[in-house]
Amino acid sequence: PVRAQRVREIATELSGLRGALMPILHAVQEELGYVDQPDVPVIADVLNLAVAEVHGVVTFYKDFRRTPPGRTTVTICQAEACRAVGAVALAEYAQQSTGCTFGETTGDGRITLEETYCLGNCALGPAVQIAGKLHGRVTPTRLNALLGEAR
Ligand code: FES
Repeated sequence: PVRAQRVREIATELSGLRGALMPILHAVQEELGYVDQPDVPVIADVLNLAVAEVHGVVTFYKDFRRTPPGRTTVTICQAEACRAVGAVALAEYAQQSTGCTFGETTGDGRITLEETYCLGNCALGPAVQIAGKLHGRVTPTRLNALLGEAR
């Protein structure tokens, strides 16, 4: 299939790097949206690694998404400065209202919920990024409105 071919190309291109596995996984996710289970043996083959080893890395690092992302990604900052001004409650609200925990996508494929540690907007917490756009001082009510637009 086309995907497996592309994964092999990406892996081959980057295979010369020292510690090539991480850059390859990032590149696959960047281009194809996520690291699919069938990508794992292809990458293992190119790098001459055990499938279990590659699988272990994919599942160990939270950076790697293993299912296709939703149409809109909503990333909520959970770092210190934002936590001090309500980011924990905001995260709880977001999880309740979408029915997702962090890293999951709503059943209708519209929204993927993510957490991050600092969006560089600490003075205006709680900070949330929606489809690449940064929002500051986000309350549950405001988040609700923003999610409504994303729906
Ligand atoms: Fe949330 Fe920096 S701590 S943006």
